[in-house]
Order: sequence, then C-alpha cells, then structure tokens
Amino acid sequence: MKILSIVGARPQFIKCAPLSRAIRKDHEEILVHTGQHYDPEMSDIFFKELNIPEPDYNLGVGSGSHGEQTGKMLIEIEKVLLRESPNLVLVYGDTNSTLAGALAASKLDIKVAHVEAGLRSFDRAMPEEINRVLTDHTSNLLFCPTETALLNLKAEGIISSYLVGDLMFDALKHNKKIAAEKSAILEDLCLTPKEYIVATVHRPSNTDSFENLSSIFKALCDAKWPVVFPVHPRTEKFLKFYGIWNKVNENIKLITPLGYLEMLKLMEHSRKILTDSGGIQKEAYMLGVPCITIRENTEWTETVKDGWNILVGANYGKIITAIERFEGSHTKGDIFGDGNASEKICEILSMYNRLIC
Ligand code: UD1
Repeated sequence: MKILSIVGARPQFIKCAPLSRAIRKDHEEILVHTGQHYDPEMSDIFFKELNIPEPDYNLGVGSGSHGEQTGKMLIEIEKVLLRESPNLVLVYGDTNSTLAGALAASKLDIKVAHVEAGLRSFDRAMPEEINRVLTDHTSNLLFCPTETALLNLKAEGIISSYLVGDLMFDALKHNKKIAAEKSAILEDLCLTPKEYIVATVHRPSNTDSFENLSSIFKALCDAKWPVVFPVHPRTEKFLKFYGIWNKVNENIKLITPLGYLEMLKLMEHSRKILTDSGGIQKEAYMLGVPCITIRENTEWTETVKDGWNILVGANYGKIITAIERFEGSHTKGDIFGDGNASEKICEILSMYNRLIC
C-alpha cells in the first residue's frame, strides 16, 4: 500500500518515529512535512535524534493565523496528493496540519487514517478541539490511544475505530535508555534529581492572556523548588510583549526548547511537572512523575482519575498549593497500552489494504 503521512508540529514528529519505522517494513511511505514548526530546535533536532526519514516534501507553510495557515496547507497538500495518488493518508493528533491533511485527502476521495483519534476536551474554544472533531468525522480508520477515546467516538456514532494504545509510549520505551546514556542535561544545568520542577506553557489560552501568563509566572517565581522552563517560541513572544520576561526571578531557568532525549531525561528526574501540553501530561504519567496541568480541562482524563494529574487552571493559589502538596499516586495502570501501538496500527493497515485493494 502507498501511504502518505503528514506531520508538521513537534508532537507529531515524536509519534511518527515509531510508526514510520514499522510502516516501512511492509508498505511504501511518502512523508510530508507541512513546515508548521520550522525552527531547528522545534523540528530538525527531532528528525535527527529519532532517526525519522528525511521528508519527501517540505511544504514550508510556516506561521500565520489559523485560516491562513490551514488554507496554505490545503493548497499545497492537494498538489502533493494529486501527484502521488496514495492509497491512504495518515494524519496525527490535533494540529492545523492534521486537519488540512484530512480535509485535502477526503475531498479527493482518498482514504484517511487518524492516529490519536477520539480525544475530546469538550472545549470548543480550543483550536485543537475543532481540529480533532473535524478530522475524526472525515476519517475512515480511527486509531484510539485510550478506552475513553474509543467511547467518545462511539457516542458520536463513529464505529470504524480501534483501540491500539499510545504511540508516545512506543517512543518513550524505545528512547528512555538512550536518553539516560546520551543526555547530560542535569549536569549541564547543575540540577539534583528530584530537587527541581519542569514547566512548559504554550496554549493560546495561557500565552495570549496577560492575566493567565502573569499569574502562572508569579507562581513559578514563588515555587518551592527551582523551575526549569524550556520556552516555546509563542510563549517567548508573549512573555516579551507583556514585559514578564525581564521580571522573572532566579528561581526560573528559562532555556531554549529541548530535543526529545534531553526533555525525556529532564522530566524523568524532576520532582513535579507543570504543563498545559497534552503530550507532556501523558509522558509525566508514563514516567511516574506527578503532573500539575495549568488548564481547566484535559483530554487525558484517565491520568486525573488515576491520581497522577491535577487540573489547576492558571490560578496562582491553586498552582502554589499543588506544587507544595500534590504528590501523585502509589499505583499506576496501563492506560496507554503496552508500547506496541505501532505494530497494532500496521496490522490493521495491512488488513485494510487487503479489503480495499
Ligand atoms: C501547535 C498546535 C498544538 C501543539 C503545538 C506543539 C495547532 C492549532 N496547534 O501549537 O496543538 O500542541 O503545536 O508545539 O496546530 N513558531 C516559531 N517557530 C516554530 C514554530 C512556531 O517561532 O518553529 C511561533 C510562530 O510565531 C507561531 C507561534 O510560534 O505564530 C505558534 O506556532 P503554531 O504552530 O501556530 O502553534 P503552536 O502554538 O506551536
């Protein structure tokens, strides 16, 4: 089968690494990078570290408003699809690259497979929620990472879905030992294991709001442990725009975005993680590190139910209390599968190929 995979943003590179490896054993893969993330530390480093094949196409779309970014991607992806005529288009997650890929393919009557299908925050103010719902409803094959995701799709009347587990767990299992051996991030930043916090913020609801961003940063300045903060380009832009960047005290180490291996090691040895990222909430769970989520809702509800994740929004008091008191749980389930999602997806793709070809 000729599969055309579309990626564009940081978390998609991580998920694509194990699946691309597995797909290429049995199928032909064409890899398309939309160019949504383009800075070397947001893109190139992941391809190098995770041995992801060089993209066959880089569409160079870059930044822009949602309509502009998604529209440019649609135009460029359509050209590639007409040229390559794949049997199936594979899209990942919930970014503008995901939606553009699914829409361009389904309009040309090309089958679409969605990896990380069925996630819902039930918050339509999040651009990612719109991307998820629309992508799921145009897809022919839906690969769910969790039981909850599968149930969400059933509730929306979608039945062509499969529970396969989470590709991020495949990536983490494969790379944990490599990160332990290769990364010297703790030494480089003079950190003692379990004596620091890792924090990341990049959601528009936090970055674009002065009130939320300043409340989060005030809490991080007052945190009980030193905070290491890899800064997403969007966040850097707003921290500078709102004049917060220069007011950050010595409790916070602002650093450039990290590659996968450095980030994995940094998170594994941290005391707690504070984030508004979806992927990091999962990785914290997989690593057994308590996660404080600076959002009002999450798609990864199992991590909260299991006692490893707490939702605190951007509220100063709640963040401080969670940093001081939230310790996670004593037990952990297997909510993200067994780390073999890529094999399971490939088996289903091969079955599907026999049916459609
Ligand atoms: C996107 C995804 C989000 C995902 C996140 C991972 C959408 C709607 N959002 O958010 O779901 O969790 O990626 O990081 O698709 N920028 C750079 N260099 C880069 C990339 C971005 O400077 O390499 C800046 C640009 O100024 C841009 C801003 O960051 O305007 C935001 O980037 P964008 O890709 O639009 O969204 P993210 O916030 O990264």
